[in-house]
Amino acid sequence: MKHTAATLTLLVAAIAAVGAAPAAKPSGKRNLIFMISDGFGLTSEAMARTFAQQTGEVDERMGSLMDSLLKGTVQTTSSDSLVTDSAAGATAYSCALKTYNGAIGVDPAGRPCGTILEAAKARRYTTALVTTSRITHATPASFAAHVSHRDMEDLIAQQLIGQNVAGSGAVVDLMYGGGLCHFLPSGDKRSCRSDAKNVWQRAQQSGFRTVDSRAGFDSLNATSSQLPLLALFAEDHMAYEIDREPAQQPSLAEMTTSALDIVARASRAAADAPGFFIMIEGARIDMAGHDNDPATQVRDVAAYWDAVAVAKEYVAKHPDTLLVSTSDHETGGLALGIDGEYVWYPELLTPVSRSAESLCRELRSDKDGDVTEAIKAALPDALGIHNATSDEVARIAAGVAGSSVQCKMAVGGVVSRRAHIGWSTGGHTGTTVGLFAAGRGASRLHGNLDNTRLGRFLADYLGVDMRPITAAIQGTVTQQPGFKRQARSFHVHN
Ligand SMILES: *[C@@H]1O[C@H](CO)[C@@H](O)[C@H](O)[C@H]1NC(C)=O
Ligand SMILES: *[C@@H]1O[C@H](CO)[C@@H](O)[C@H](O)[C@H]1NC(C)=O
Ligand SMILES: [Zn+2]
Repeated sequence: MKHTAATLTLLVAAIAAVGAAPAAKPSGKRNLIFMISDGFGLTSEAMARTFAQQTGEVDERMGSLMDSLLKGTVQTTSSDSLVTDSAAGATAYSCALKTYNGAIGVDPAGRPCGTILEAAKARRYTTALVTTSRITHATPASFAAHVSHRDMEDLIAQQLIGQNVAGSGAVVDLMYGGGLCHFLPSGDKRSCRSDAKNVWQRAQQSGFRTVDSRAGFDSLNATSSQLPLLALFAEDHMAYEIDREPAQQPSLAEMTTSALDIVARASRAAADAPGFFIMIEGARIDMAGHDNDPATQVRDVAAYWDAVAVAKEYVAKHPDTLLVSTSDHETGGLALGIDGEYVWYPELLTPVSRSAESLCRELRSDKDGDVTEAIKAALPDALGIHNATSDEVARIAAGVAGSSVQCKMAVGGVVSRRAHIGWSTGGHTGTTVGLFAAGRGASRLHGNLDNTRLGRFLADYLGVDMRPITAAIQGTVTQQPGFKRQARSFHVHN
């Protein structure tokens, strides 16, 4: 398996060299908007596109926004598996190297690797990370942290504000996302830290402006916003789009608009700044895939499209900017069609009004009531199912009695089966993902690229070199004191 992966990687790298011609030596201002739709395979795109055509949001003949940006595909293997996780997947882009599943900004031997964001910061680019997950989660973390295992999120929180990283201070000028709990000391009700460090306060002391509310977000604007800025809108992940309360949390498109505004102005204001680098992640597409929850996924995909639309518009107005959108891997082994029948029903996703996560949270918290009755009562409004079979109710009831993951997959499974949507797994798969781009240099991307090859292309585009950063950060502590790997298995959550 290992041999096969390595051989395949070499082969793909050789082919990919054709598909990503080296950029000319950079000169003048240049910006890079790098977007990652986590766990988004080409079938997720097809599912969301067909759903949007069916609801009338996308014209049947026009296709989706992504269709107009499609350049090729990306090969997603990691150093130790043909099926990557998000940590190795993001590190392939940030450090342009293959590493093991679970690795955050470290190489296969566990040594810190300089990232494109750190290298950009060293060259005075303005830098930003925007996500709908915890900001300490694998994808954003892999651009500015270096730990041996992705679950060391307490240490990642410290590294993101420039603590515990050798050879550099804070490297991220702007952060938007969730994950406040890893910044608060264990005594705080909202904390999920295993120690009493107040990372939020340390961020403030080291110069970060901090924001933790929608009202705070609304008061940010490019003219008044000093950097660095740390704005976290949820203790845990931000809400799925289908569950999001606009009064509580901004959308990914709103965060994208605000972040682009602020970093663009900051990089223009500094005469010696060459431009900006921003990574924007639609993180929860992946999580809906893990839950096998198609109705939740199509809404998160649409929210991602909205963010891509904002970025595309920016690129159209600023020709010194390259927009690249890709994914770290596919999640769920999604299929549009099951059981040998030539049909699937996107319209059955329309009446679903909340995520399996949200429904399961409610059903599982009601310990006293009659579960079967509670499920029957909830299904019409939650899933648009008015004629649940006793088998469907029993399957959800078994999920409610089991783990949270089992509950979500049971709920997602009932909707999926009715819609003739199939899933091969609650984890990731090894298929290729889409590569989308617009703007300066986008035409150099075509064909099938290895993920590390794309990472190299992005660094070359910015004209930055990760090697001096790698040398400077070797003293970084990559182990979280007292860290115990949680008993949950890899395939259920990542
Ligand atoms: C930006 O924010 C500042 C301070 O909150 C406010 O005084 C100013 O009017 C805002 N500017 C715009 C253009 O909204
Ligand atoms: C439920 O009702 C819908 C609409 O009337 C129908 O198409 C579907 O076959 C029914 N499903 C079951 C399992 O009875
Ligand atoms: Zn995942």
